[in-house]
Amino acid sequence: MCGIVGYLGNRKAAEVIVDGLSKMEYRGYDSAGVAIHNSEELEIRKFKGRLSVLADDLKENKIDGGLGIGHTRWATHGEPSDVNSHPHYNQDKTIAVVHNGIIENYMELKEELEAEGVKLISQTDTEVIAHLVDKYYEGNLLDAVYKTIGRLRGAYALGVVCKDSKNELVAVRKDSPLVAGIGKGENFVASDIPALLKYTRDVYLLENGEVVHMKDENMTIYDSNRNVVDKEIYHVTWDVEAASKGGYDHFMEKEIHEQPKGIKETLERRLDDQGNIKLDSINISKEDLDGINKVYIVACGTAYNAGLLGKYAIEKFVKVPVICDIASEFRYSDPFVDENTLLILVSQSGETADTLAALRDSKAKGARILSITNVVGSSIARESDDVFYTWAGPEIAVASTKAYTTQIISLYMVALDFAIKKGTITEEFYKEMIAKMKELPDKIEEVLSNEEHIKELAKTVSGKEDAFYLGRGVDYNLAMEGSLKLKEISYIHSEAFAAGELKHGTIALIEEGTPVIAIATQEALFEKMVSNMEEVRARGAYVIAIAQNHNTTVEKASDKVIYIPNSDDILSPILAVIPMQLLAYHVSKLRGCDVDKPRNLAKSVTVE
Ligand code: F6R
Repeated sequence: MCGIVGYLGNRKAAEVIVDGLSKMEYRGYDSAGVAIHNSEELEIRKFKGRLSVLADDLKENKIDGGLGIGHTRWATHGEPSDVNSHPHYNQDKTIAVVHNGIIENYMELKEELEAEGVKLISQTDTEVIAHLVDKYYEGNLLDAVYKTIGRLRGAYALGVVCKDSKNELVAVRKDSPLVAGIGKGENFVASDIPALLKYTRDVYLLENGEVVHMKDENMTIYDSNRNVVDKEIYHVTWDVEAASKGGYDHFMEKEIHEQPKGIKETLERRLDDQGNIKLDSINISKEDLDGINKVYIVACGTAYNAGLLGKYAIEKFVKVPVICDIASEFRYSDPFVDENTLLILVSQSGETADTLAALRDSKAKGARILSITNVVGSSIARESDDVFYTWAGPEIAVASTKAYTTQIISLYMVALDFAIKKGTITEEFYKEMIAKMKELPDKIEEVLSNEEHIKELAKTVSGKEDAFYLGRGVDYNLAMEGSLKLKEISYIHSEAFAAGELKHGTIALIEEGTPVIAIATQEALFEKMVSNMEEVRARGAYVIAIAQNHNTTVEKASDKVIYIPNSDDILSPILAVIPMQLLAYHVSKLRGCDVDKPRNLAKSVTVE
């Protein structure tokens, strides 16, 4: 987490940096700061609070200068405060550093520096970096940075500037994302591409260990051994509009409405002229599949919830057992991974530290790695054997929506592709499923057209402090996602339960008026779900049911119903999640929460 930006050129660095940071506030937003070279010295401004606090200050008291670094923070070491904000600097403010990541050996480095008489003023792990650069600086900033990174353990993307040199910037990438932007007579670095799109579409996707050296108008990339790297320029083709709100109040609302498009793109780009799935980027043959005896799906949060549906589809279509695990648990559970294992990683950002660690551990054990990610060139994508990109477009709101539905579609496509190769489904079933998947974008539009009704229902939930989500089968997996959406953006305590499990304890929590969102999209489980709704309703719950259009009997067991178009059991979750996303969105809005930037969270979780 945390976002960093660096700039060297003829524009006002402070303006470019604040603008870039504003595109990355989703990476962290508890404090922000800049260090700008004003021709004489490094001027450092940094404040606890949203980026607007810094931006307002810089409007009042401008800093001129074409070199600078900036940071928006998600605290790891040290509470959010002015002093813990980045940039951090050495005692006489001749070196300033911004950092995204965690320095694991900072205590040891801190003790070493303190023994040498250095006074550290913050509680962060980053401050030691500024002092180390200072310690090693003998007139050559690049040398000093190389010596410094030789001492660091952990993850870092760094931007470093020095008072002695108003036309030089050094940046480093190791296990935390960083891209370099190429302009005309100006250059940039940033944690993520949207920060640069206003200025350039030509970027270098940096690899681990690479060091960026900007000097005057030139930018050179070195590897960890200080050899010059001849890097390919990656031209960003997606629109700046894709990373802006486009008329909606919030990114989340826009992204919910972008789901028909995201699913269409993800699906139809992979269909050939005959309408068959063509996964160019995945080279897993029938022989490879025959050699695989175990499949793990590993992910975090919403991506994990998507993985649960992937498990269901792969088991049903491909007839192999699948274990779906949370990345932070998988790593330490001594999983049965070997060369006959296929590890499927699901990650919107492609940078989640736990998921990336699961990838590396499993790769070392010989597993084949297939990743499903939204970010081209992300760490997970680059380190995988095979990559399936979700074509959701940039997802900016912290709460994931369009990434989730495109992840499910991607997992289903992989499952169908594997199954037809292995001969575990018929050609007829395969064609029928693809045809039904193609209908989803229109059906989602139909659900979205019901937004006013959901907005009304949000009023019945917004005043409550607890809510429950119930479902059976894949609807239980969906309940987990619905519940996560509500709690993360509205701060209402909410939990998901397998509907049949409720009476084994949880039903004790149901009181008069407790909202229960009951998902009943599975034909075979419908009647059982209706009984579970009756049970909670008999104990005072206010039941909002989600059911397919034709299942109107649900009305007798619920207070309100949200209908979704009829669909196949396995595809219904993709429709049923839409009203839950909208419900969470409108409840959050009614409660006056910061929808796109919920408290304590960050979009890209690059720490373990
Ligand atoms: C919740 C949410 C998170 C992410 C999780 C994994 O709305 O977005 O739970 O799903 O942090 O992130 P990625 O998919 O980037 O690995």
